Amino acid sequence: MRVLGIETSCDETGIAVYDSEAGIIADVLHSQIKLHAQYGGVVPELASRDHVRKIIPLINKALEQAQLSKQDIDGVAYTRGPGLLGALLVGSSVGRSLAYAWDVPAIGVHHMEGHLLAPMLENEPPAFPFVALLVSGGHTQLISVKGIGQYALLGESIDDAAGEAFDKTAKMMGLPYPGGPELANLATKGKPGQFKLPRPMTDRPGLDFSFSGLKTAALTAWQQSEQTPQTQANLAYAFEEAVVETIAIKCRRALEQTQMKTLVIAGGVSANTRLRARLTELVKKYEAEVYYPRPEFCTDNGAMIAYAGTQRLLAGQQQDLDFSATARWPIESLDSTV
Ligand code: KG4
Ligand code: ZN
Repeated sequence: MRVLGIETSCDETGIAVYDSEAGIIADVLHSQIKLHAQYGGVVPELASRDHVRKIIPLINKALEQAQLSKQDIDGVAYTRGPGLLGALLVGSSVGRSLAYAWDVPAIGVHHMEGHLLAPMLENEPPAFPFVALLVSGGHTQLISVKGIGQYALLGESIDDAAGEAFDKTAKMMGLPYPGGPELANLATKGKPGQFKLPRPMTDRPGLDFSFSGLKTAALTAWQQSEQTPQTQANLAYAFEEAVVETIAIKCRRALEQTQMKTLVIAGGVSANTRLRARLTELVKKYEAEVYYPRPEFCTDNGAMIAYAGTQRLLAGQQQDLDFSATARWPIESLDSTV
């Protein structure tokens, strides 16, 4: 089965074709970074309009890359939520309409399920069950995963998501949008031990996160510092270290609590080198294994949507002729594929 995947939940138009025999056979992406950079963050209306401009040319490009024509596509998967409603509506309406025109089934995919299953696209995919750490711009969640659609939430952020905290901290330190990767890059030049920042909610039991206080502590530290390039790098280091350590503590607890031996990390922040290294170190102590997607499949992409959609279409699930998009959509409410 060959499925066209469409991702338009935020500031990336991602299109891919997944072949259930051959794997990903096309993957194209247009990032809106330049469009939003001058505003210091994503402007939802501009995002929607840009998806409208790019979606059809990118679908044509993906079909060309896969050396397929529209008759070769057996299903269409599009991100139905969560995300920016206007942006989601672009991919959902185009995806649903194309499936109708091509007379193939369509499926609305949960964006975070796409992230969660992205490691399945690698040569050595993880096996169920596993603990998933989803860390993106909008979500920070620990989930017990027993199969596709069998998700139990173990803990989540009660305020800012990890990526959001990276982005906001970067912005207040004067770094350009999107701040997360910029801050991570700057942190490599930082000296350890120059700033002391909290590890929020690690002093009490539980698997929830809170990053808003950490962001404020970083702001205060920045305001009270000399604000030289070196202090900026030192603070970036301390901030990244605080986020990474906090996440690692919660992942350790999740592995202990569930007794699972596999940890999967996904979502934009899983591209963070220090986080990957720390979690790789952590799992060794538990004789467990950690899996993550290749960097380009950590951040938003069409491939993860094509993959997740294919699994659901193969299980016989599909979307009615109507379509809808939803800004909020709890991942635990998804149906299982078995
Ligand atoms: O998954 P994603 O592309 O979009 C959402 O679904 O939100 O995640 C984007 C988030 C942004 O907050 C971005 O700053 C963060 O992931 N991010 C990073 C890194 N790369 C992307 N944060 C820290 N270190 C990175 N290397
Ligand atoms: Zn995402």
